[in-house]
Amino acid sequence: MKIGVLLSRVRVEEKWLFEALDKRGAEYDRLDDREAQFRLSDAGAWRQYAVVLERSLSFGRGLYATQVLNSWGIQTVNRAAVAATCGDKLATSAALEAAGVPQPEVRVAFTPEAALEAIEAMGYPVVLKPVIGSWGRLVSKVNDRESAEALLEHREVLGNYQQQIYYIQEYIIKPGRDIRAFVVGGETIAAIYRSSPHWITNTARGGVGSNCPVTPELEALCAQAAAAVGGGVLAMDVLEDPARGLLVNEVNHTMEFHSSVSATGVDIPGKIIDYTLAVGREALEAQ
Ligand SMILES: Nc1ncnc2c1ncn2[C@@H]1O[C@H](COP(=O)(O)OP(=O)(O)OP(=O)(O)O)[C@@H](O)[C@H]1O
Ligand SMILES: [Mg+2]
Repeated sequence: MKIGVLLSRVRVEEKWLFEALDKRGAEYDRLDDREAQFRLSDAGAWRQYAVVLERSLSFGRGLYATQVLNSWGIQTVNRAAVAATCGDKLATSAALEAAGVPQPEVRVAFTPEAALEAIEAMGYPVVLKPVIGSWGRLVSKVNDRESAEALLEHREVLGNYQQQIYYIQEYIIKPGRDIRAFVVGGETIAAIYRSSPHWITNTARGGVGSNCPVTPELEALCAQAAAAVGGGVLAMDVLEDPARGLLVNEVNHTMEFHSSVSATGVDIPGKIIDYTLAVGREALEAQ
């Protein structure tokens, strides 16, 4: 059985994934997404892979590569449909809502005028986010009408079409931290608190990670959210609401995890590889 690992750059995460593959004696190829080519009418050399683990830095490359691979019947971790849902905050929220997963209230509008109306109806503060993006970029807390007007005008004038999809989320007064939980094949294997004096707690923005116990409540919520977006290898951002308890903020489908391994002591890359190998074995058996 041969595994493909599609990537853009070998970060610590990919280095650890290769080490986990080596440790298990797995046969694999590193596939650079800058060199990848797909002839739709003929899978050719791609056919040799029982499963492709997608680790692209680019959402678009990862999404379209897995779309083509899945169209040929080649398994991917994650599947293209999961990437399409998780890569887009609105698609994620809609999937969570459909499955009844608790989340902050979300409203969507397509013009600054309609967005302002939605924001005013929700009440301040709210959080305005690009539907596609990561590392907390352009995630904005809107405290009053004047800043709402300014932000909406900036996006209208300076933004591309994606910036004109106004995703508005209720602001959750969380206790100086959020939770990032790692789910692999439906199982919540580890979680960290990300603490920061800033309301954006991403580790990429200076948030500090520490171990978070995987309680039955967190486990149940994560299992429900993972199923809602189609499962696989996922990272859940969870907010602690003082009144409603745990709410799912978003779900990530290609996550970084280097700081979480030391914080939790859990072999996250090993678990990802074990899951990927299991998907590959299943694919071979189904042939
Ligand atoms: N509605 C909210 N209420 C309170 N805090 C929030 C809310 N939305 C986001 N945050 C904070 O901002 C951070 C970044 O938000 P979010 O995860 O949605 O952005 P992101 O750019 O997708 O980040 P990444 O993809 O790297 O996880 C969250 O981890 C959380 O700390
Ligand atoms: Mg996030």
